[in-house]
Amino acid sequence: MSDAVIRFGDEELTLPVHVGTEGEKGVDIGKLRSSLGLVTVDRGFANTAEGRSSVTYINGEEGILRYRGYPIDQLAEETSFLEVCYLLQYGELPSKTELDDFEESITRHTLLREDTKHLFEAFPHAAHPMQILASATSALATYYPDKLDPLDAEAVDISARRLIAKTPTMIAWSYKYRVHQPYVYPDNSLDYGSNFLNMMFSVPAEKYVADPVIVKALNMLLILHADHGQNCSSSAVRLVGSGHANIFSSIAAGIHALSGPLHGGANQAVLEMLDRIVASGQDVDTVVKRAKDKDDPFRLMGFGHRVYKNFDPRARIIKQAAADVLDSLGVDDPLLEVARQLEEVALEDDYFVERKLYPNVDFYSGIIYRAMGFPTDMFTVLFALGRLPGWLSQWRELSADPEAKIFRPRQLYVGPEERDIVRVEDR
Ligand code: ACO
Repeated sequence: MSDAVIRFGDEELTLPVHVGTEGEKGVDIGKLRSSLGLVTVDRGFANTAEGRSSVTYINGEEGILRYRGYPIDQLAEETSFLEVCYLLQYGELPSKTELDDFEESITRHTLLREDTKHLFEAFPHAAHPMQILASATSALATYYPDKLDPLDAEAVDISARRLIAKTPTMIAWSYKYRVHQPYVYPDNSLDYGSNFLNMMFSVPAEKYVADPVIVKALNMLLILHADHGQNCSSSAVRLVGSGHANIFSSIAAGIHALSGPLHGGANQAVLEMLDRIVASGQDVDTVVKRAKDKDDPFRLMGFGHRVYKNFDPRARIIKQAAADVLDSLGVDDPLLEVARQLEEVALEDDYFVERKLYPNVDFYSGIIYRAMGFPTDMFTVLFALGRLPGWLSQWRELSADPEAKIFRPRQLYVGPEERDIVRVEDR
């Protein structure tokens, strides 16, 4: 591969070009500032690769998403979420024995220390589940002070497993506290998804058996969310980890980053948008018109993506699943029809076509979560549960990388020039 050459004034600098597995090319600008006194300006890091990663491959033009080389549709169809957790952590799909051991180890760590109940109870009942999850994740670090060294591979592994095991319990307990119901302890005889649903929806007074349709849908949704390269929250996790903060603090940072409506918070925002459309009886043309109006801050939530410029392969799978799941559960939700109409109108509209705006992973997922019985403001914690193995593998990849550096971007300072202080009584 030939190098790249940059000319600035009378000087010229040759920059090496690195090539990824799928032929992606990256110019290494490591010597740019020391040689030419230049930094790069790249808003939103849209053209910046922080480093190499072997976790996930995305081709936004062709709508390709693969974890460790495996296409997302195959993973969603043929594996369990814990298999995907294993794949993302260790690079390969597990053998049957490896999977049994992994499942056994996750199952053994699902309990929370009894004292953590006080933590949930310190929040107002109406607190948003994302805030509680981030705080509880951060608090977990205080229970395992001997397992926080990011350079101790064994400590990292057990901490990653604890996070995978305990996050469903933290989410379910935050919900139980909010709805004034007793906490339900993990049941180690159940699989990962059924155990989570049991902790969420069972009450001591009644026997609860999770509907297999819901268990299957949850497994698929968690897999589809499991990783997505250097997105906002994964970059936050890596950034915090780059300073050698412990894995719990780094994951808590990822949860906070995910909460915003331009990122994971969009699944809640989509549902609220669809709800408002149905409640107000607005027609979809008016909604699409508003989304195009530059004087109106309203955007069509669940539409558009920084990377996908053709279609989001996750959205295609979820759209079909939404129809199937609602059908199997016998749910007739008017929101699904409104979502379909919105998509149809937007995909024909020049504004959306020119800007290559398509439904993203969040457009249809909320409709399934709602049919499964989850309240709207819990959708983003479900995204976090799915994304957790991705965050963990991204963090572990960086921690184990001998070439990793603390993240420390430059800036172009555009503030005032040097000036002297005028004493306060003279200002
Ligand atoms: N509705 C209306 N217009 C939109 C939308 C939308 N949903 N998304 C982008 N646009 C327009 C922008 O106004 C801009 O128009 P302009 O060129 O005339 O100024 C153009 O499309 C490009 O948009 P940007 O915001 O520059 O694209 P960017 O890559 O920075 O943002 C993002 C991507 C944040 C996803 C954006 O499309 C958006 O806000 N979508 C709605 C929120 C959403 O669904 N987020 C979830 C993303 S998936 C995820 O994180 C899991």
